[in-house]
Amino acid sequence: STPEPHDVSALVATAQILAREAGSLVHEGRPARVRVHATKSSPVDVVTAMDLASEELLRRRLAELRPDDGILGEEQGFVPGTSGVTWVVDPIDGTVNYLYGLASWSVSVAAVVGPPGAPLDRAPEPQTWTALAGAVHAPADGRTFLAGRGLGATLDGEPLRVNEPKPLELSLVGTGFGYLVERRRAQAAIVAELLPLVRDIRRLGSAALDLCAVASGALDLYYERGLAPWDQAAGALVAQEAGALVTGLHGRRADHEMTVAGTPGTIEALVTFLESRKADSTA
Ligand code: IPD
Ligand code: CA
Ligand code: CA
Ligand code: CA
Repeated sequence: STPEPHDVSALVATAQILAREAGSLVHEGRPARVRVHATKSSPVDVVTAMDLASEELLRRRLAELRPDDGILGEEQGFVPGTSGVTWVVDPIDGTVNYLYGLASWSVSVAAVVGPPGAPLDRAPEPQTWTALAGAVHAPADGRTFLAGRGLGATLDGEPLRVNEPKPLELSLVGTGFGYLVERRRAQAAIVAELLPLVRDIRRLGSAALDLCAVASGALDLYYERGLAPWDQAAGALVAQEAGALVTGLHGRRADHEMTVAGTPGTIEALVTFLESRKADSTA
């Protein structure tokens, strides 16, 4: 195999610095009552001033620390680089929790590379990218999840390992819902069918933390349809490096269509269930 041309440990260190700095800004700058700055795809798809400030900080610090890299962020889109590395950032993952003062939100920072020969002027995609490093920082409780490709995953320095395999009926399953009403209707129908088949369902509100919860054993399984690249880039690497399988349906990789994460030996039953519900392709 050809040696990795990028220093994965250095990328992990940078991801950690960025996620913590942005997380501190957002946490310490939180007003008593957060205001909705604007709405996006629907009235409940909101952005706050802090989402924008966090992404500004991430972009400014990356320009200082890694000026040749590209960046893809939720609030300001894609700016290409020349090095082949692209930073995929979610300045606040769990904005609705942040708005309401609930603890489950994070800053998610990942470094990815596209396939060999991929044009640098196009944003990398989860179907074809290789994630090299990821950091998910949850400022409300100070936890930082880190992963480097081939280096394992940690929570505040302690190695992470997914739960042992177990049957679906004993599995605690996390999921999430998109912001569009039509999608939610279909997602609700699937949850209604799944709930009697599992231990219980959790909707924590940050996809990045959901994936890290699979890594730490706080969830057995997680699935969500409609995730954006920045929702899953760092968390999926943390889960994988802790021993999870992260996949889409019908042999596809995880992407906007579907993201499923869990221990091999546990995840198959959920994948089979979700594949059998593929008729609900609007979900
Ligand atoms: C959202 C969160 C949520 C998930 C949504 C995402 P945002 O991200 O990750 O848990 O269910 O699909 O859009 O908008 O808070 O960055
Ligand atoms: Ca958002
Ligand atoms: Ca997000
Ligand atoms: Ca966000």
